[in-house]
Amino acid sequence: MKAPPPQSSTPLRKARLSPYLFTFLAFIIFVALLYGEDFSCTLSQHLQLDPSSDDHHRPGHSVSESEKKRHRVLPFAIGRTEEGCDIFSGKWVRDESTRPLYRESDCPYIHPQLTCQEHGRPEKDYQFWRWQPHACSLPSFNATLMLEALRGKRMLFVGDSLNRGQFVSLVCLLQSVIPEHGKSMEASYDSLTVFRVKEYNTTIEFYWAPFLLESNADNAVIHKISDRIVRKGSINKHGKYWKGADIVVFNTYLWWMTGLKMKILKGSFEDEEKEIVEPTTEDAYRMAMKSMLRWVQRNMDLKRTRVFFTSMSPTHSKSIDWGGDQEGNCYNETTMIEDPTYWGSDSRKSVMKVINDVFSKSKVPISFLNITQLSSYRRDAHTSIYKKQWGPLSPEQLANPKSYADCVHWCMPGVQDTWNELLFTKLFYP
Ligand SMILES: *[C@@H]1O[C@H](CO)[C@@H](O)[C@H](O)[C@H]1NC(C)=O
Ligand SMILES: *[C@@H]1O[C@H](CO)[C@@H](O)[C@H](O)[C@H]1NC(C)=O
Ligand SMILES: *[C@@H]1O[C@H](CO)[C@@H](O)[C@H](O)[C@H]1NC(C)=O
Ligand SMILES: *[C@@H]1O[C@H](CO)[C@@H](O)[C@H](O)[C@H]1NC(C)=O
Repeated sequence: MKAPPPQSSTPLRKARLSPYLFTFLAFIIFVALLYGEDFSCTLSQHLQLDPSSDDHHRPGHSVSESEKKRHRVLPFAIGRTEEGCDIFSGKWVRDESTRPLYRESDCPYIHPQLTCQEHGRPEKDYQFWRWQPHACSLPSFNATLMLEALRGKRMLFVGDSLNRGQFVSLVCLLQSVIPEHGKSMEASYDSLTVFRVKEYNTTIEFYWAPFLLESNADNAVIHKISDRIVRKGSINKHGKYWKGADIVVFNTYLWWMTGLKMKILKGSFEDEEKEIVEPTTEDAYRMAMKSMLRWVQRNMDLKRTRVFFTSMSPTHSKSIDWGGDQEGNCYNETTMIEDPTYWGSDSRKSVMKVINDVFSKSKVPISFLNITQLSSYRRDAHTSIYKKQWGPLSPEQLANPKSYADCVHWCMPGVQDTWNELLFTKLFYP
């Protein structure tokens, strides 16, 4: 270790270093020595966009470093997914023996907007599909294992109604092994819903923040707003409620898709003269992604916690996207799209590119749940007209059911259980 800097009467004066500068340099060297190990750790961890791509595109990485990384165990990990297996690349297979993972009527926490059977859906075909990666098989979801891992911990979903769906799906997957009196679901304040497991001292929570940043759609109940405004640099407004979580799962997408330019507020919502800029959707979304990464970097200890980001949940509002008729949408669809190259709208592609750009340049090790492609085949799995409606339907609507079909949200059980199986895999077998 370097000795403390000598006083100004030493030969160092000749090098024209002021004592303060010298002290400063010595301190830097000291810190670098002390944390050198950690520095290299941080640098060699990065986003697991594609497990097979490993460190190849990171310059300055020696073989031994990526070797070391392979052996470094992520928090919660108990095993590994086979080398080179992209669990998001695969196909749906019919499996009536193991699907669905629970019955709609057995999970009391599903919102009435997602209980399709209760609301008259005439068939259950959408419930019997299992996701099969091409290069390996997913481990079976084990509720006991997950609860044990979450003992004394807090897991938090942050985002929009699709992330709320994934939260509820996870609760449904876990709740069957918890006795009746040992669990509760409550809205603790406007934006936060908490599922509590008494015996395990565990909470699984959902925080409503459809843009992650502060916006004029932040009211968890009343947020039907077409003129959407998001405030730049405001992630801490919500982020202060996320601190201390052991696992965080973010999503944000649909609310950015206004079809118009996004309105980004530079000052505060209280300002009388609001300074608003209107970047492209992609640039606005990029800003949010960067804010999220910065928040994670500053607030999560990634040596003992995990952070996930779920990609865009696809919608099926236009049959012409998959070669169907002009007027149609997901209504009356009971089979999935067979074309393995099907992707859907271009805006999804450009947003995926933004995610890819931002994450691949970042050193923050966020696990990416790339559910967009696998869900895009599932035009059959939306709630369509089989849900509790927010208000009474008009005679015109009733005469034309597809006019009010919901082709955004997913019936439960269904597709979102698969998202959680993938989350389970990434958490325990990264
Ligand atoms: C699930 O995990 C628990 C706890 O780790 C273990 O005891 C049990 O055998 C597992 N169940 C299955 C079916 O693998
Ligand atoms: C329950 O978990 C919290 C962290 O979520 C912890 O602070 C607390 O000490 C735990 N309580 C018990 C009784 O284990
Ligand atoms: C629903 O689909 C079936 C079979 O694809 C078709 O026969 C029927 O006419 C459709 N119903 C409506 C109301 O579009
Ligand atoms: C997600 O998966 C799709 C399809 O496999 C792929 O095109 C896309 O690049 C992936 N996105 C990222 C960010 O890895």
